[in-house]
Amino acid sequence: MDKITVIGAGNVGATVANVIAHKDLARELVLVDVKEGLAEGKALDIWQTSSINNFNTRVVGVTNNYLRTKGSGIVVITSGIPRKPGMSRDDLIKTNANIVKEVTEKVIKYSPEAIIIIVSNPLDVMTYCAYLASNKPSHKVFGMAGILDTGRYRAFIAEALNVSPKDILSLSLGGHGDQMVPLPRYTSVNGIPIDELLGKDEIDKIVERTRLGGGELVNLMGTSAWYAPGAAAAQMVEAIVDDQKRIFPCCAMLKGEYGLKDIYMGVPVKLGKNGIEGIFELQLNKAEKKLLVESAESVRSVMKVLDDMKLF
Ligand code: NAI
Ligand code: 2OP
Repeated sequence: MDKITVIGAGNVGATVANVIAHKDLARELVLVDVKEGLAEGKALDIWQTSSINNFNTRVVGVTNNYLRTKGSGIVVITSGIPRKPGMSRDDLIKTNANIVKEVTEKVIKYSPEAIIIIVSNPLDVMTYCAYLASNKPSHKVFGMAGILDTGRYRAFIAEALNVSPKDILSLSLGGHGDQMVPLPRYTSVNGIPIDELLGKDEIDKIVERTRLGGGELVNLMGTSAWYAPGAAAAQMVEAIVDDQKRIFPCCAMLKGEYGLKDIYMGVPVKLGKNGIEGIFELQLNKAEKKLLVESAESVRSVMKVLDDMKLF
């Protein structure tokens, strides 16, 4: 791909940029931030690893200069404030909705064809906000959360079983909040169902730790995570750039799937050069459906805050 842009050169944005450059996914990567010099500095630092780590992607940083992002094929939006201990992702909405709306409008002005991947929290509602601000079809505007959430879940399972995390296959559904829905019934170790390897209590504990996984890191570090979120967003970029048709849980607009409409939430999707090329509807049991409905209700309550802000 010719050009990829990452908005926000903070912890997550710089990490996404770094992984994208290491994978040589674009000829040029433009990192943008409002804070004078930050994107320039981080981009220069990443670019100076190119000869050491053997990549060609030219990484450049700019302060608020959207002209430099012109013609991007993919834009990853990470701008916004992260959580501090004691905050939920939803506490961020008042600040981040304004930021996400503003940067999406600027992005679209110079890259009307771009696929937009949202990372800013509260993720599901910020993705909806970018969808409204961009006026683009929903298969080209979607969010990153499920790869991160299942990344955590897969790491915990690998640890519990002392097996390679590469062999843990899993899915999750729902919003990127503490009511997310990791799915043990769709989890296996290279095909071996997880419930043949771990007892119910152990699985329940891992599911709970996954649901609270973001908060665990906020409590440890005083701010939210970036290595796994950055790697997860870059994996989505890679699937699009290489037209891989990979199946990942991503935050997508639902139009009747799972009985839900006009809401962005995590579901398994196929990612390729056109963005979201399909949404998979799983045959959920009663308990799973109940959890999904609860998660959707929680996302809707945050959507209401966005509505009340009257930005659109
Ligand atoms: P950070 O504070 O390290 O970086 C955010 C950057 O955005 C800052 O450098 C700031 O100057 C910049 N920014 C603010 N307003 C801007 C604007 N109008 N234009 C351009 N840049 C602007 O925060 P971090 O840790 O990188 O997190 C970023 C966001 O991603 C947060 O909202 C966080 O909650 C979210 N996040 C989401 C995850 C997910 O799974 N979807 C995972 C991890 C973080
Ligand atoms: C995370 O889950 C805070 O959404 C961010 O790490």
